[in-house]
Formats: sequence, C-alpha cells, structure tokens
Amino acid sequence: MRTIIVTGSAGLIGSETVRHFAGEGARVVGIDNDMRARFFGKEASTQRTREELISNVRGYEHHDADIRDSNAMCDLFKTYSPNIFAVVHSASQPSHDWAARDPQTDFGVNANGTLNLLEAARQFCPEAPFVFLSTNKVYGDTPNRLPSTLTIAGQNVDTFAPNYRAQHLRFSSVSRWHSQGQPS
Ligand SMILES: NC(=O)c1ccc[n+]([C@@H]2O[C@H](COP(=O)([O-])OP(=O)(O)OC[C@H]3O[C@@H](n4cnc5c(N)ncnc54)[C@H](O)[C@@H]3O)[C@@H](O)[C@H]2O)c1
Repeated sequence: MRTIIVTGSAGLIGSETVRHFAGEGARVVGIDNDMRARFFGKEASTQRTREELISNVRGYEHHDADIRDSNAMCDLFKTYSPNIFAVVHSASQPSHDWAARDPQTDFGVNANGTLNLLEAARQFCPEAPFVFLSTNKVYGDTPNRLPSTLTIAGQNVDTFAPNYRAQHLRFSSVSRWHSQGQPS
C-alpha cells in the first residue's frame, strides 16, 4: 500500500501533511514523541492533535518514537520499506531561544535526527523523495532581501541557524549523491 512517512506528525506542519496524504488515500505513518511538551511545557503538547489524528484520520498509524534513536528509525523504515512512497521530515526543535538554552539537545534533534532519517531512507527506500522542512534562517538574518537563488552562508550569531545549516549541508550532499548517481 502506498505509504508516506511523516516525522513530527502531530506538529503544525506534520499534522496538515498527514491530513493531506491520508485524504488522497495513502497510508500515513507518523512519528512524533511529543517532544514539543518538553521544549515548551505542557500547554504546548501535541498530544491532543495526535489523538485526533489517530481517531479521525483513516489510514493513519502513529509511532511514539524519537528521531534521535537511529535503531528505532531503521527498524521502522525497514518494516514499511517495500511501500514507502515518500518521506516528509518536519520533526524539529523549532525555536531560536530554546536552541541557545540547550544547544546539544537542539543539535541532537535537528542535525543528528535528520541524519538518522536520511540514513534510514538511504538503506530502506532510496528511491523515495525525501522532503525536509527547514527554516529560512539558514540564509542569514534578512532572507526576504536576498535573491531567489541562494547558497547557504550568512553571519548568524545564534545557535539555531548553524544547527539547521548542518542539516542543510547533509541534506544537500545526499541529494547530490542521488542526482549525480554516485554511490550513496
Ligand atoms: N510553522 C512555521 O511557520 C514554520 C516556518 C518556517 C519553518 N518551519 C520549520 O518546519 C518544521 C516544522 O515546524 P512546525 O511548526 O510544524 O513545528 P512543531 O513544533 O509544530 O512540530 C514539530 C513536531 O516534531 C515533534 N518532535 C520534536 N522532536 C522530536 C523527536 N526527537 N522525535 C520525534 N518527534 C519530535 C514535536 O513533538 C512536534 O510535534 C521545523 O523545522 C520548522 O523550523 C516552520
């Protein structure tokens, strides 16, 4: 069955992605461990959205897993591997201020978590498109004034953007491998 993996599936962008693909008749496999409650407190929890998706969205399967756990990600991708049609990665620590408070956890989720998913995709669904929800902050502090074709540079002094840049660089190197047909 056509299967889409969505990380951060109970978050703002992830939950809309789930509804979109489930509405098209796909099986949607969501990964979200409600880390948002740890980042921003109980009132920011995505538990209610997760329950709503489980109850009301036909074809939705939830996994309360952590993208920092590379074995769990590989096991999950392996389970669904013959049918994975696409991966949408929106699980993240999305706050600048929080990144500065705990850069190691920020890097663990945003950079290492992304690497774990890219590696699981490389092993178990190398042909599936991998969509990565990033941030315009990787382009510096005034992205709206930049030309539409961009390279990642800039002079940010905060913690958030460099960690996202690490994800971007990893993501683009894997994309290049794929597009140039080099061994990945
Ligand atoms: N919402 C926006 O307007 C916007 C704008 C620009 C960029 N983005 C980017 O899009 C992405 C998604 O943003 P969002 O607004 O949906 O964020 P969000 O906080 O609503 O959703 C992220 C989800 O990821 C989950 N999560 C966090 N760490 C996890 C982990 N280790 N394992 C599993 N799940 C985990 C959280 O519990 C949460 O439900 C982020 O990278 C963000 O920077 C969002």
